[in-house]
Amino acid sequence: MDGNGRWANRRKRPRVFGHEQGVEALVRTVRACVERGIEYLTVFAFSSENWKRPEEEVSGLMSLVLVAVSRHVAKLAEEGVRIRIVGDRTAVSEKVRASWDKAEAATRDNHRLVLSVAFNYGGRWDIVQACRRAVADGLTSDTLTEAALSRYMALSHAPDPDLFIRTGGELRISNFLLWQAAYSELYFTDCLWPDFDAAQLDAALAAFAARERRFGDVQAAAPASAPEEA
Ligand code: FPP
Repeated sequence: MDGNGRWANRRKRPRVFGHEQGVEALVRTVRACVERGIEYLTVFAFSSENWKRPEEEVSGLMSLVLVAVSRHVAKLAEEGVRIRIVGDRTAVSEKVRASWDKAEAATRDNHRLVLSVAFNYGGRWDIVQACRRAVADGLTSDTLTEAALSRYMALSHAPDPDLFIRTGGELRISNFLLWQAAYSELYFTDCLWPDFDAAQLDAALAAFAARERRFGDVQAAAPASAPEEA
């Protein structure tokens, strides 16, 4: 969800205002996905590296979590959205942790769309935490297969993403879903995240529909991967 800061700068507003509008864009996008029958949406809300930002921005983002959960979760729950948080929760404050716990608990019986919010997340962190937990469970060089390790990844509840969208014009994936995006179709747009809407989503879906996916084979094929558990 890149481009919040630039969106705010262009309007001579503080960066946190851009993040606030980013939450509105997220809610809009979740609804557009539900309307289109998309069952899994994963968003990068705060990376392991975002702690390096000015203290004012970091604390603004943390406060925004509390506001966003209290303002939007009840309605999203009614609409069939399940919220799951992926990332290292140990470093966030007790208040933020409690807010995420509340969002997960309030939506846990929903199945229409699973919204995974990556928060204090990094793709490399995810691979390392999965390896650590697998080793702690006794997996060895004989048993540590791709399928076995996948079960320990933070997104084991979701299938690998078909489409990976980055807004804001940068052409890189910045440590997001390194393991899971192995065969994702990448889509980059100059649209700044607060401007993202159903029309932008439809443009990304149209681009995706025009791609030929081969998964290493010579002919287009569908992947056989399914989520481990709902
Ligand atoms: C990147 O834009 C965006 C972020 C670091 C934060 C994204 C967070 C939100 C949209 C809010 C989500 C909050 C919840 C509660 C889910 P940037 O700041 O790097 O923008 P820039 O590249 O224009 O500076």
